[in-house]
Amino acid sequence: MITYQLIHSLSEAQPNAHLIAPSTSQPLPDSTLINEMRATGNIADACFGCAPFKRITLIPPALWQDNLTDGLLKALRPLFATPASARVIIDIRDIHEAVLLQVLRFLFNQVYRLNDLQLKTADNATVRLSHIDALCLPGQQEALEIIFRQQQAIANGMVAARRLADIPSDCCTPQFVADQAQALCAAFPTLRCEVLNEQQIVEQGLGLLHAVGKGAACPPRLVAIHYDGAADGPVRCYVGKGITFDTGGLWLKEGAGMYTMKYDMCGAANVLGLLLSAAELNLPVRMMGVLALAENAIGPNAMQPGNVARACNGMTVEINNTDAEGRLVLADAIAWTSQRHPQARYIIDMATLTGAVVKALGYELSGLMTQDESLRDNLTRAGKKCGDEVWSLPLDARLQKQTESAIADLCNTPTNNAAISASAAWLLHHFCPATIPWAHLDVSGTALWREGGKSVASGRPIPLLMQHLFNELAVEK
Ligand code: BES
Ligand code: MN
Ligand code: ZN
Repeated sequence: MITYQLIHSLSEAQPNAHLIAPSTSQPLPDSTLINEMRATGNIADACFGCAPFKRITLIPPALWQDNLTDGLLKALRPLFATPASARVIIDIRDIHEAVLLQVLRFLFNQVYRLNDLQLKTADNATVRLSHIDALCLPGQQEALEIIFRQQQAIANGMVAARRLADIPSDCCTPQFVADQAQALCAAFPTLRCEVLNEQQIVEQGLGLLHAVGKGAACPPRLVAIHYDGAADGPVRCYVGKGITFDTGGLWLKEGAGMYTMKYDMCGAANVLGLLLSAAELNLPVRMMGVLALAENAIGPNAMQPGNVARACNGMTVEINNTDAEGRLVLADAIAWTSQRHPQARYIIDMATLTGAVVKALGYELSGLMTQDESLRDNLTRAGKKCGDEVWSLPLDARLQKQTESAIADLCNTPTNNAAISASAAWLLHHFCPATIPWAHLDVSGTALWREGGKSVASGRPIPLLMQHLFNELAVEK
């Protein structure tokens, strides 16, 4: 747990801390070192002669306003790889709001490191951040207290999700995720976890989820997490793709890039993290999170190209490509969710669904596909405010040919390789009744963060969806 304090003068800060401030920050000690550091016009970092601080980093003011190129975060990341002190003092008197929210989440995310999985014998134990002193103006204090509390709860949800996603898939199976979800939810009386085993999945007609999961030694699961922060009112529903490993199935992926496919359950992990964050803040809403968990493996029972499976809403899908498995498990989970809550306020699904969304939007933006304009506006606005942004891709009946099948109601992949991300969304839209607003987030580019050439889980889009909730609650007040 990282503690924090809002301070109005550097004299209130604890000694031996790492001071991080804009190069123009006033007042700072009037030393030659600091004056030289101010004059560089660049990021200036000093570890010697800094008393009463342990380390001083001065960062050009432009980066504190830079909400597009992550300038401030880029400067902070290397500093926190091996921190000089467990305490940081950061001057946030003049910072863009989206940058502030990102920086706070970054700092509160420092409670977790890959080393915590204890898979590396030589654990080079570095100093870990334990306290933040934030220098602010008295007039900012009230708003900042809320912001700090919110961003810490968001970071805690992100950490739970990131940790689960980082665990290798031989350990992190569908049942393991279900167990972890139950254990994490047990900490909150407002959260309740329901787990469907393989038999219940078959009995409840989730034939698409079962088709994907039946080829693996570890069988599929469906987890529904219920959050009751309010006695009544419409339920906000979230559905996550939880492929604990995606080999591609019989349509086997190439070996080289396959190792990141343990992260194909980030959607599900982030749904869990989202509900944990909401519960920590006691948000006065009802939510349901659904985790569609399966391993897409090869084996004698694996689904085969050309198989047809039936979803729990009765629709049939021709599986022409076994590597387009995410839309299958999501389709069933979305339909199941809509049956459980026909009056849902909305259903938002999140998934590492297509590599093509990375080609279209890159690694900074999540792809948003929806036909509900108010959901589109609200999610887009929430993203801009918190720095976890989305960008829309088209979704309408012009995609219809992309899901036509001669033998079944739908086919899971078009043969023409066109509009791959949107075609997947078009398939999904058949599984949510038109009466429930629905949005699809393709997070293939954003759910992972590239660190030192390797991919690790990022926790996105938890910040986006929490901000979306905050905005909705502010309007209702
Ligand atoms: N999990 C992948 C998508 C993915 C690929 C996410 C790379 C992150 C990085 C998904 O199940 C998949 O294999 N999608 C196919 C879809 C295609 C068969 C239509 C893809 O993107 O190639
Ligand atoms: Mn796949
Ligand atoms: Zn996948």
